[in-house]
Amino acid sequence: MGVDGSTTANAIRARKVDPVKTIRLTPEELAPAIQALLKGEVVAFPTETVYGLGAHGLRADAVARIFAVKGRPADNPLILHVLDQKALRRLTVDDEMDPAAIALTEAFWPGPLTVVVPAAPTIPREVTAGLPTVAVRAPSHPVARALIAGVGVPIAAPSANLSGRPSPTTFAAVWEDLAGRVPYIIDGGRCAVGVESTVVDCTTRPVTILRPGGISVEMVASVVGEVQYPHPGGPARAPGMKYRHYAPKKELIWVVGSETRDLVRARGAELSSYRTLAVIAPHGVVAPPEWPSASLGADEVSAAHELFSAIRRMDQTDAEAIVVMWSSLKGLGQAVANRLEKAASMKVE
Ligand code: TXA
Ligand code: MG
Repeated sequence: MGVDGSTTANAIRARKVDPVKTIRLTPEELAPAIQALLKGEVVAFPTETVYGLGAHGLRADAVARIFAVKGRPADNPLILHVLDQKALRRLTVDDEMDPAAIALTEAFWPGPLTVVVPAAPTIPREVTAGLPTVAVRAPSHPVARALIAGVGVPIAAPSANLSGRPSPTTFAAVWEDLAGRVPYIIDGGRCAVGVESTVVDCTTRPVTILRPGGISVEMVASVVGEVQYPHPGGPARAPGMKYRHYAPKKELIWVVGSETRDLVRARGAELSSYRTLAVIAPHGVVAPPEWPSASLGADEVSAAHELFSAIRRMDQTDAEAIVVMWSSLKGLGQAVANRLEKAASMKVE
């Protein structure tokens, strides 16, 4: 694959970085990436959920670079990545560390859970998008942790995709979106979880699930008791909720179902105008053999792990559109359904 940043629509921004420097780093070779972060540059790195696009989290100029590289709207705030609860306390107003944030981080950190808490005044407004709160998470991936420890400050990072594209869960996916736009992409293998962290607003009673993710809603509820969801149609509580997300280049059609007969029925009705479709479906669904297909595996955990990489893979086929079949809302099924809700341009129920 070539270094192709200069051929994209963002050629002017891409030329600001030296494409030759975009190299694949192994975890043992982190030192130059740590130096780059300390100098205010952006670096793509693996986490257990999806790859992140990181910058020094306490420097406004460094954080601003993330938005430029991704083409991300400035009113969508970022998550600060830290090592532990001690670091979380420094980023919030200490006496406002509420019991829910303490209990949730004790139960699920390090891991795929982000808490939204009152923001300390030292956090740049580029991180919070001017909100009085900040989102914080402690990742468990050893490379992410080594990077945070090496830099010695929180790392601000959204997912390492171009804004609006599927989140990257492999080195190759990051390369596809960001080669030529960032000085370093660190290779940490395939992300174990495959969907982003669960974002929990701990400033409301009960806490609010702003984004279902790698920690299931049932698991959050088992720690804090009651949870609530933002009102549909109400003001966007997580600013990211109002944008179209995770979308491949091809049209993505969500068929709510998990069996071959659901596909057959949709094919005879809503999908009848398509000749070839790429099918992403749970294990056991039989798609026409001439169509490209990818499996989501046999359960919700496997579906979360496969979803984004399957979408990117099917996007590279000759099919006219991508069909994803999914119906479960159990466990990580809710995170999978949420991503499809945002990525699909058509939903067949
Ligand atoms: O797993 C993850 O969370 C990945 C990895 C890289 O850590 N990161 C990630 O970041 O998914 P991003 O920027 O793609 O999503 C962050 C979400 C957005 O929906 C954003 O609106 C929300 O968190 N968010 C950030 N700060 C917030 C705040 N202060 N209040 C409410 N929502 C916030
Ligand atoms: Mg994202």
